[in-house]
Amino acid sequence: MTRTAIVAALHDELASVLALMPDEHRQVVGGREFWVGHLHGQDVVAVLSGIGKVAAATTATLLIRSFGVGRIVFTGVAGGLGPGVKVGDVVLARAFLQHDMDASPIFPRHEVPGYGRARFDADPGLADALELACERMLHTLPQHLDPAVVHAFGLQAPRLHQGLLLSGDRFVATTGESQALQRELPDALAVEMEGAAFAQVCHDFGMPLAVVRTISDRADDLAHVDFPRFLREVASRYSGAIIEALFEN
Ligand code: ADE
Repeated sequence: MTRTAIVAALHDELASVLALMPDEHRQVVGGREFWVGHLHGQDVVAVLSGIGKVAAATTATLLIRSFGVGRIVFTGVAGGLGPGVKVGDVVLARAFLQHDMDASPIFPRHEVPGYGRARFDADPGLADALELACERMLHTLPQHLDPAVVHAFGLQAPRLHQGLLLSGDRFVATTGESQALQRELPDALAVEMEGAAFAQVCHDFGMPLAVVRTISDRADDLAHVDFPRFLREVASRYSGAIIEALFEN
């Protein structure tokens, strides 16, 4: 049976995944706690990614080399960039790019040296399965959320977006930087700090990867206000519901 890695970005998200696992046991490797067990009868290992690209790359490598996973599913939050990508929407990555990779003029801007490319793809089949899970979750979302929270964040009609996800070692929290990213990479939907690092490692090892991110903020001057509140009140509900829908299928 293929073992699935479930990677969470935040403690609350990991807690909502562990709540679905009846028999997990903890193994510590490289200072990370890996939770090995089952979810809906399937072999899984759940872990926090760590924040930033280096932590994420190490976690991805350990999942592949020390825990023998056969596919990786990542759930977390991101800042919305694309027009219409609102707080409470969900972004399913079909491609990844490191927005802070810049070895120019030796290599083209954003190209990862040694790879001849800037963009890495999600696994189409795994992303399709996650797409179904997201659609199901968004359908039943009102049951997972407090009506006051739905009202406060304007979560009435959350949408699923699919496309390019950016990663970099920076929390994007100014309107200026957000606009610069949108100008430079007009098809980018959202920005976070780990997905593209997972994608590069998964490319190296031929490992299927899919990443889903709930939009917690608009990566603008208000991001530092919206982000912590969203984490507390909303994000963990999304992750648990998406992972449950994925494994029910
Ligand atoms: N994760 C959630 N919001 C983010 C932002 N604005 N920048 C980087 N990572 C994020």
